Amino acid sequence: MGRSNQYQTVRGTRDILPEEIHYWHRIETTVAEWMRRYQYQEIRTPIIEVADLFYHGVGQETDAIGKEMYVFPDRSGEMLALRPELTAPIARAVHQHSLAAHRSLLRLWYYGPCFRYERPQKGRQRQFHQVGAECIGSSSPDADVEVIALAWDILRELCDTTTLTVSVNSLGTREEQARYRSQLVEYFSQYRNDLSPISQQRLTTNPLRILDSKDPTDRAIICSAPHIIPLLSVQSRAHFDTVLTLLDSLGIPVTIDPHLVRGLDYYTHTVFEFRSNLLGAQDAVGGGGRYDNLVEALGGPPLPGVGFGIGVERLLLAMDIPPVTEQSWQPAVFIAAPENMRVFMHHISSVLRRAGIATAVDLEFRSLKAQLRLAHRMRYAVCLIVSPPPHGDNTAVIKDMRSGEQVALSLEDSDIVSHVQRLLKQQ
Ligand code: HAM
Repeated sequence: MGRSNQYQTVRGTRDILPEEIHYWHRIETTVAEWMRRYQYQEIRTPIIEVADLFYHGVGQETDAIGKEMYVFPDRSGEMLALRPELTAPIARAVHQHSLAAHRSLLRLWYYGPCFRYERPQKGRQRQFHQVGAECIGSSSPDADVEVIALAWDILRELCDTTTLTVSVNSLGTREEQARYRSQLVEYFSQYRNDLSPISQQRLTTNPLRILDSKDPTDRAIICSAPHIIPLLSVQSRAHFDTVLTLLDSLGIPVTIDPHLVRGLDYYTHTVFEFRSNLLGAQDAVGGGGRYDNLVEALGGPPLPGVGFGIGVERLLLAMDIPPVTEQSWQPAVFIAAPENMRVFMHHISSVLRRAGIATAVDLEFRSLKAQLRLAHRMRYAVCLIVSPPPHGDNTAVIKDMRSGEQVALSLEDSDIVSHVQRLLKQQ
């Protein structure tokens, strides 16, 4: 293999190229704006954590931790992990910095890369990005509704809502889950030999996860599997009913999915998932739920919480961005100058940039024709053509690339800035 082909991105990871970055920025701006409107504060935690945080917090029997986590000893031999998700790190940070000591309710949001060693396919990568929010300190159903409404507001601004569905379920308390687990074991044991090998294994390790199986034979068996709702206590049922009533009052189109269990072990009570029909097999754009025991399980105070995570790569697919047909004009000026005007070129670019105007130059000082061709190809809306001295008469030409109209003007800084500003203001 030639040297130029030797180094490629690691399987399951991607470069985000300049032509795509606009869509990432759009997501980032939209998310930050909705977080502001809901009064969530941004928090940034490290990408590496002690591996035990996830074994303990999220569960060793979950795929994301047991099978897919990137774990490695550092040079001192301590076992570290590349974070597969951010809820456990946030719970760690809340406890570590006693963030809840002075405030009864914490509203936090985050954005950053996560890592899972999964088989890559459309919408599934080994390095992907999540945005999410966590509301910590309230066990009220209103907190569940707040985070679902927040995620929904972000998704509805970026996607066509007719392509989205919102599924919800309740997983009750730990005790109710234990009762449900035994019911499921009893039910699935009748079909033990018909289940896929992985589901057979889960029958002993994590029976709830069988409900997530995509295997067609498993699916047929799962259809008639018992639901958890009839096992819920009056309080758990009332919590769930309030969540449903409030979501309905907000016009959020939720469907109860009685077999929704989600892949992480910390959930109690409400769980939810947002799916898009533009995504194919990996159709979950985001998901989340309540985790009333997580902070305490990590050694902290008994703080209930609820939150969601949205996969940014999947969100991009769910946004169904139309292919670019004709690139629109960039609100920027290009300075076409010959080499013997380089001092002026640097001077005027600096003046323009300091006046807030996006300014590009040709650092190779190609022919005027070549520079104008470049400016056209890059779709710069305005071009400032600086004449070379012997023929130049201390004037420049300013050309509106969109209409082709051009006028001569003096080399005065203020004259140039005001002309460029005026032209860039015109659409
Ligand atoms: P999760 O469902 O495991 O939940 O991940 C959230 C979202 O991350 C998924 O819905 C999906 O969009 C995206 N995602 C997950 N794995 C991949 C992957 N391999 N490639 C691309 N995207 C992926 C959590 O992580 C929880 N921490 C969410 C939460 C917050 N629960 C409570 N608070």
